[in-house]
Amino acid sequence: MTPSTIAIDGPAASGKSTIGFYLAQHLNYLYLDTGVLYRAATWAVQDRRIDVGDEAAVTSLVEDLVFDVVPPTVDDGRQCTVRVNGVDVSWEIRSPRVESAVSPVSAYPGVRASLTERMRTIARNGHVVMVGRDIGTVVIPDADLKLYVTASAEARASRRLLELQAKGKTLTYEQVLAGIRERDHIDSHRKAAPLRPADDAILFDTTTLSMEAMFSAVETLVAGCRTGNLHKERTYGTV
Ligand code: DC
Repeated sequence: MTPSTIAIDGPAASGKSTIGFYLAQHLNYLYLDTGVLYRAATWAVQDRRIDVGDEAAVTSLVEDLVFDVVPPTVDDGRQCTVRVNGVDVSWEIRSPRVESAVSPVSAYPGVRASLTERMRTIARNGHVVMVGRDIGTVVIPDADLKLYVTASAEARASRRLLELQAKGKTLTYEQVLAGIRERDHIDSHRKAAPLRPADDAILFDTTTLSMEAMFSAVETLVAGCRTGNLHKERTYGTV
């Protein structure tokens, strides 16, 4: 059977969103990059001038926020349109300012509980590819297919730098690498739902794996689900 719920986890800039988006289009499924919810929540915290260190205030704000994640409403290269209480923040959530505060905000258990509940509501309808840090371990542990996508911090920093440069940002490679390492550390050491592969996830290392090789491996996997031959190969790419 074709997997109906697909969970993809991994660190920043590992290629997980690229795989997820591709797979969702290939299967005609809903695509949800759950990082956008944590980013949008962080944007709202900053917009309201709430101290990021004030766990109670941050949590109570996030519990009351209304999020919309819908297909692009503007043709400006965005993967989706993200709104918080009706305000389009699709580009603001990618700013270095949001990026610098999103890991601490997403470490708060109350914030996670609120956003996890919303993700589960979406997952309940099936036909979804959900991408994040804890999708296979916490959000939908019974997902039909789980992938864990990783790459070296250096490879991820190089990719992120190219993306930022394309947007006219002037950060150095060292700054981007330091930011990635810091987020990796917070995301994988936090108490609530730390970043880690689910025991039954299939691992991809995209350090040297080309996009084409990755797409073809994922297609083979999905076809394997249909024929019941899924777990012959557990690891793709260089580990
Ligand atoms: O994937 P991203 O870089 O857009 O994610 C932004 C932040 O959100 C990241 O630092 C960790 C957090 N996040 C999370 O904790 N759990 C998820 N399911 C998705 C993202």
